Amino acid sequence: MNMQQNVLEKIQQLDKLETVHLQNAVIGLAELATEEAQAHTDPQQQRLFLQHWYGNDPGYFWLIFNKVRSRAPRESVWSKYGLLQLLKGPASEYIQWGMISHEPKEAIELLREYFNTLVHNATNEHRFLLVRFLWESRNEGIKSNISENWLKKADPGLKRSLGQNFNELSKHLENLFHVWKAQVEADTEEATSAFEKVDLSLPGVHRPIGSHHLIRQVFQEIEDIFVSIGFSVVEGPEIETPYYNFEALNIPEFHAVRDDMDTFYLELPKGAATPLLLRTHTSPMQIRTMEKQKPPVRVIVPGKVYRRDNPDATHSFAFHQIEGLAVDTDITFCDFTGTIEYFVKQFFGPSVKTRFRPSYFPFTEPSVEFDVSCPFCGGTGTAAAGGTCTKCKGAAWIELFGAGMVDPAVYGFVNYDAKKVSGFAFGIGIDRLAMLKYGIDDIQVFFQNDVRFLRQFP
Ligand code: PHE
Repeated sequence: MNMQQNVLEKIQQLDKLETVHLQNAVIGLAELATEEAQAHTDPQQQRLFLQHWYGNDPGYFWLIFNKVRSRAPRESVWSKYGLLQLLKGPASEYIQWGMISHEPKEAIELLREYFNTLVHNATNEHRFLLVRFLWESRNEGIKSNISENWLKKADPGLKRSLGQNFNELSKHLENLFHVWKAQVEADTEEATSAFEKVDLSLPGVHRPIGSHHLIRQVFQEIEDIFVSIGFSVVEGPEIETPYYNFEALNIPEFHAVRDDMDTFYLELPKGAATPLLLRTHTSPMQIRTMEKQKPPVRVIVPGKVYRRDNPDATHSFAFHQIEGLAVDTDITFCDFTGTIEYFVKQFFGPSVKTRFRPSYFPFTEPSVEFDVSCPFCGGTGTAAAGGTCTKCKGAAWIELFGAGMVDPAVYGFVNYDAKKVSGFAFGIGIDRLAMLKYGIDDIQVFFQNDVRFLRQFP
């Protein structure tokens, strides 16, 4: 077995050893290295030896280093000691050799060669720190070893040139360590700055920011107005039972108003407890709210509603409403009209006037239809540029929404005492209001979701 195979085998065996035997095995390897360093006196052979053990061909020391490190924590004394012995071997050999041979120049040359090899192969900071320790350490270091054991004891005739060589080596190594550190720092800096580099001339990534649909914006506007006067916002199901959508609102089966509220019924399994339909208005939430809470009640209900309508510029199978309901022990018709007027002025501006006309809904009594003086022509019926106002079609008034005082019959369905409570309700068609306020002449654009339309209302 030649020397190399022997060493490699010993290194392989480190894996199988128990941790307690590792230190001895490493020290055994250190002895081998020292012996080999001793054996080579020829500079050529010395160089080869350094490459085998401390260079990268195949670099026994680094192989051992990795194995020991993977088995022992970095701070473990024995691992550091063992590795240091491995490193120290050749260096102490060169020092002695230098002394004996009285060829300090050559010894220093070898040390230089040795440390160059080590630093070049210190590919990470752990390796580097150990190598630097080998040179600089006060007790263990080669530097103090040379000055204590060699320089001080040298012949007076030799001292001068020896000191000079030693200083040169010292400076060389300090520089080598410095360059190593600087390189690592530059590498990390380069890596970070490459990562952080921003090229301001590059076009940015375009991330279009969405916005609320105009209907949602109008909902929000109306909600804000009512919340500011003490209403709270509740929401309800779009799929309803005929009881909530009709009966409890005082619309019995075969009542004529059901004709205006034809809707979509769900296909249900046979024997289902109740038919289900898409709600035709938000009014069912009046019932659901009053079933749940005792007066006082002050709520608004924004939501989507459905009717079997043929689509045209003012009709769609789906549209939006905000229901309003206020019930308490002392609510009068004055509170009702005052509240509506406050809302209309907030929404269209303080200069508009309101009026109401008698109307009919089964769940309010009396029922009214609220109108607003046309905000576009100032209630004159004539456009600013002359001619008939296109918004109110010359009528000077615009029909807004239906409302009324809650019909006492409704209280019967929710166990309110009709003799003690009173209240009002209203149902605002949002699409119509949005069309009026924002000059939109076709309700269909709300559902087509053409971004060219939506973008006009960011
Ligand atoms: N629910 C009625 C409709 O959709 C509007 C309304 C609500 C009328 C509340 C009076 C009170 O036409």
